[in-house]
Amino acid sequence: MKTVHIKSFGCQMNVYDGQRMADILGEQGYAETPTPEGADLILLNTCHIRERAVQKVYTELGKLRDIKTAQLANGQHTRIVVAGCVAQAEGAEIQRRQPAVDLVVGPQAYHRLPELLEQAQRRRTIDTDLPIDDKFGHLPAPKPAAIRARGISAFVTVQEGCDKFCAFCVVPYTRGAEFSRPVAQIMTEIERLAASGVQDVTLIGQNVNAYHGEGQDGRVWGLARLMHRVAEVPGIARIRYSTSHPNDMDEDLIAAHRDLPQVMPFLHLPVQAGSDRMLAAMNRKHTADDYRRLIERVRTARPDIALSSDFIVGFPGESDADFEETIRLVDEIGFASSYSFKYSPRPGTPAADLHTQVPAALMDERLQRLQARIEHHRQAFNHALVGRTVEVLLERVGRHPGQLAGKTPYLQAVQIETEANQIGDRVQVVIERAGSNSLFGRKAEVPDSVGGDGPLTAPQTPSKELAA
Ligand code: 5AD
Ligand code: SF4
Repeated sequence: MKTVHIKSFGCQMNVYDGQRMADILGEQGYAETPTPEGADLILLNTCHIRERAVQKVYTELGKLRDIKTAQLANGQHTRIVVAGCVAQAEGAEIQRRQPAVDLVVGPQAYHRLPELLEQAQRRRTIDTDLPIDDKFGHLPAPKPAAIRARGISAFVTVQEGCDKFCAFCVVPYTRGAEFSRPVAQIMTEIERLAASGVQDVTLIGQNVNAYHGEGQDGRVWGLARLMHRVAEVPGIARIRYSTSHPNDMDEDLIAAHRDLPQVMPFLHLPVQAGSDRMLAAMNRKHTADDYRRLIERVRTARPDIALSSDFIVGFPGESDADFEETIRLVDEIGFASSYSFKYSPRPGTPAADLHTQVPAALMDERLQRLQARIEHHRQAFNHALVGRTVEVLLERVGRHPGQLAGKTPYLQAVQIETEANQIGDRVQVVIERAGSNSLFGRKAEVPDSVGGDGPLTAPQTPSKELAA
């Protein structure tokens, strides 16, 4: 049996694409292997969002070249494939910098992997076509055994690409224009996942709340309508979606957080910065107050919602005063978690040409300060749950024997002590302690509502505590 090792960098969509590529290669007789050593095919599924992510790819490729050379000395022909957004953005440059690479395949061309691999046996091959010749329509359905091996939570790409053109971002260039999969195709995939035990789905897209796919009635459906449909699938207990743009949060989507018990009280809604001057320079097309008002509406619909964001510090021209506005926004909203990054100039994006780059040391200082505030609010959100009872979906064995690990509706990791093999159960858990990365709890003694969709016990909203 031939083996393939797939390593994905970057976002959730790469995780999804990596699984789809595993499914395609599975049909070609490849079994997945967890390490590159000994593999016949090694596939790096790459990320181009920041320069550091790109550097990682070249470092990794250096190591893979050594493995390839060593395996060749033992008579094994190893092939190296670079897929994902670096493949799309750098194309031929990859094989120039690392000649050991046999095939470069972009994110919209990987459904052609079998023929491209065939071609790559004769000559080095590149396919970075962007037009979507319905990649999704060509992907094989995952086998039940593969679904079960991946666990009870799954990502499902429903939308790809972005038309927003934020000044710092490569996504519109690497993933192309917005594209929404038709509802029927998505439903077939989710029904199949559910039939093999998946209970928790995250609908993903670079700008997922701009979803506008062809509905089952032939009309255009938005994300809220799609989620109503997904909620009807037997076995699907939890639905999330990521990543969203503030300007695409429509009334129906906000209402879905109130009306659909399967839609989890969690929202990743990047704001990027708190200063209107920076938001304008970033071409975000919303102000900090627009965001505040939007959050208010979301919290009115779902008061206990856990909010999450992305932030960029050191965007060109960012002054101390601009940065303070970001800190102010973070303290006001009280995010349950957030990602934060130093600005990284990306070739081809408008911001890369700006000459007002913030010095590296200042960026470091700002990032540290921001991360300290984000961490403070994360801890506050987690600690607010101590003493409360929440539904935990148990997903896997825990860190220590006798422990199972799962997630709250707010996407926090929880460890509980239990002898029983309850993976896949939704149990009521009393949270006893908040560690730095996980919550710890025990099963509630009241008859629990396994399989039920009863109301969740909400944590206190940390921003209210902190604003006091
Ligand atoms: N530099 C730093 N961070 C970036 N992001 C996107 N592009 C850049 C860049 N050039 C961040 C944004 C986005 C997240 C996925 O990555 O915060 O929301
Ligand atoms: Fe990039 Fe998101 Fe802006 Fe689109 S909305 S350009 S994916 S940061």
